[in-house]
Amino acid sequence: MPAARTTITVSAAHAGYEVLIEPGLLGRLGCCVAEVAPHSRALLAVDEQIADRYGHRAKESLKTAGFTTSTVPLPARESDKTLHAVEALYEVMLEGRLERGSPVIALGGGIVGDIAGFAAATYLRGVPFLPVPTTLLAMVDSAIGGKTGVNVTLPGGRLGKNLIGAFWQPKAVVVDPQLLESLDVRDFRCGLAECVKYAVLADASLLEFLSDNAADLVQLQMDLLVTLIERCVRIKVEIVEQDERDTGRRTLLNLGHTFAHAIEAHQHLDLRHGEAVSIGLAAAAHLAVLTGRLKSDERTRITKVLEGFKLPLRLPQAVEVDQLLNAMLYDKKASGGRLRLVLPTGLGTAEVTDDFPGSAVQDAWMHVGAAVVARG
Ligand code: GLY
Repeated sequence: MPAARTTITVSAAHAGYEVLIEPGLLGRLGCCVAEVAPHSRALLAVDEQIADRYGHRAKESLKTAGFTTSTVPLPARESDKTLHAVEALYEVMLEGRLERGSPVIALGGGIVGDIAGFAAATYLRGVPFLPVPTTLLAMVDSAIGGKTGVNVTLPGGRLGKNLIGAFWQPKAVVVDPQLLESLDVRDFRCGLAECVKYAVLADASLLEFLSDNAADLVQLQMDLLVTLIERCVRIKVEIVEQDERDTGRRTLLNLGHTFAHAIEAHQHLDLRHGEAVSIGLAAAAHLAVLTGRLKSDERTRITKVLEGFKLPLRLPQAVEVDQLLNAMLYDKKASGGRLRLVLPTGLGTAEVTDDFPGSAVQDAWMHVGAAVVARG
């Protein structure tokens, strides 16, 4: 018996859309696309690492549904998420004579979705876009909510992440949890860090679910994965519906991320985003304890779940605390105000706040392995 489909409707200012979750859905991709963006021509942007495994299946399904599809393999590296990659897509779209109604489909993780989504947002002033996420992180986060964009190099050489972009809501999000079977286990665990984030900020019972089912989730037990993805997507949808343009409540999704971005600025640590988020969650939970927002046994419950997924809670090697604070300060300067952080205020609730002493932020960094270097 085929698995049942879960459909979650997202209300957006101009047009709502559906998130479709169903194991094996890639084989029916063409029908999903034809339903919301019927046309004769389409563009398929696909992560080059999975093009062989999934690209042909996607293209076949699109062909059966009547689409002539131009396919572009894209590298899924942050350093390749540039306007050059978008231009390369425009060229293929022009060659393939894609029109206003021609859909752009992104088969890959967050990077492929960001590049293809921005191309879809801007080609002919906007064409239909459908992400088909292939990582857990993209399934529960980046594919939903309409953020698209690329990085630029800032004067001085620093990477300006997602500084060029557009809000462009998809026509539908096609989630096939079976695609996770090809995902590197380290990347899968990274996606789980974002699921823990959702649990901490919005749903204590999800934390319970993650803790009770840790081993089976890592073994990719499909019914549990579907439940996990559905629960996380519902949290994200509830938040983006209230704050589509990221001017308020959507900031909550940054729980752990200001710490994580400061960690990621230290590339020699060789941490992936979700690993940096895991350490960031540990730091944010500690800061919340220090400032009386969270009980220490609640912090322990959070860190135990992260540990259960073999996610790191400490920096793999000491980094000078001043460097980490400076990296956070850079974020503060970028937003033109005081340092604001998302901190848990219990299990399943969080707030955006600037009400904490600087010394407590330093202590939080020390708690996750930062070091003070004595200067003589
Ligand atoms: N990934 C954070 C957001 O969509 O706002």
